[in-house]
Amino acid sequence: MKTTRASVRAAIAVLAASAAAALLVQPGEAHKAITSKYTYNDDVFPIFRERCSRCHVSGGVAPMSLMTYDDAFPWAESIRAELVAAHMPPWHAEDGFGDLKGAHTLTPKELDVVLTWATGGNPRGALDAKLPEVKLKNDWSAGAPDLALRLPADFTLAADKMEDTQEVTLPTGLAEARWVRGVDLLPGTPSIVRSATIFVKDTAAAGAASAGPAPERVLAHWLPGQDLEPIDNGVAFRLPAGAQIGVRIHYKKTWQFEGKALADRSTVGIYFAPGKDATELLMVPIAAPANAAAGADATYTFESTLANDIRAVALSPDGVPPNITLQVQAVGPDGSRTPMIRLNTRADWDRRYWFEKPLTLPRGTKIEVRANFEDPDLLSTAFAAPGATAAAAPRQALLRLTLNVVAPNAKPTAP
Ligand code: HEC
Repeated sequence: MKTTRASVRAAIAVLAASAAAALLVQPGEAHKAITSKYTYNDDVFPIFRERCSRCHVSGGVAPMSLMTYDDAFPWAESIRAELVAAHMPPWHAEDGFGDLKGAHTLTPKELDVVLTWATGGNPRGALDAKLPEVKLKNDWSAGAPDLALRLPADFTLAADKMEDTQEVTLPTGLAEARWVRGVDLLPGTPSIVRSATIFVKDTAAAGAASAGPAPERVLAHWLPGQDLEPIDNGVAFRLPAGAQIGVRIHYKKTWQFEGKALADRSTVGIYFAPGKDATELLMVPIAAPANAAAGADATYTFESTLANDIRAVALSPDGVPPNITLQVQAVGPDGSRTPMIRLNTRADWDRRYWFEKPLTLPRGTKIEVRANFEDPDLLSTAFAAPGATAAAAPRQALLRLTLNVVAPNAKPTAP
């Protein structure tokens, strides 16, 4: 079972009830009321190791390790807040709206254990318990790539900066076109590599002609601590002969490294499709129209009509500002509605969401995007003045999604 907002609420209701239960006080910590029957050693550590250790580990990208009691208990209140807000672990699509692959949220039971512990005095458990040491994992999750493109030089995140971005172009040196089933990144210094976008540099190949800047042909939205999910058999990105790969890395330091310079040299890994033939994964950009006006409430809705029959396999928000709830539905020519996704945008956690099963959508289907702005000021600056054409491009850039699709009757071909 996956976490839903409803299960978060249920877990909170249970907590309220248990707070009313008799208070036990642990010797030596007389100031803290221990109401939690769950301890770090026995109950919480296994969940943190399973669900948080890819990032919250010494040397990891997150601001603190949670892998020992001493590391974790000072963060109890923050952990409670992040879990209740469904910010952590980072997976910001809501369960039950659309059918997405690989959701990684906590189960209701796990949520109950962690919230009970975090709010119930954070008991440690047996003092002499020996927990296994958890080490940072920094390796290719899908095994060594077919083509490894190491960045040409170190990038230094300066001592006086907390974050920075670098963009590099990497020649593939491919003599002929190839089908690609997955693209990954191996950080050189995992503690500062916060996210990356990997794309095909030649935007002329992007296909879809549209107003405004040509959308990037994104191969991967890379995030820390995620296993590469190679594309299902038979579908692949096409990489032209001589392709150049663009990689844009966002570096971010945690407070532990404030005032220190840190260098990174990451490697992009490309995995070719096994067979000679494949069906091309195409992109359909969906952007808010330039002269858009906001609704009366903190909501803005727009539609984009599909010009062709498609099978939609994935969807990604592209740099949408944080704290917007995006709901995407397909409205068929017959008026039928297919939920695709509802997600809450969070800074720097853009990812591509794959549908559990491809959605077959006929030409004329409207992709309806509803954006609910937590911050009404952002909504009014972005959308309140229709006709102010100077602001059209930024406005359009504000709400952008990419649908990844295949043509429904496409036969596999050579690249
Ligand atoms: C994929 C990596 C990743 C995973 C998995 C992850 N976190 Fe995080 N976490 C981060 C990063 C990075 C931040 C810093 C904020 C940001 O960049 O969004 C963070 C921030 C936090 C914070 C806020 C810290 C502060 O500064 O107040 C808490 C609490 C937290 N995480 C708890 C958890 C817990 C509990 C889990 C597991 C159930 C978890 N996280 C899983 C990467 C991760």
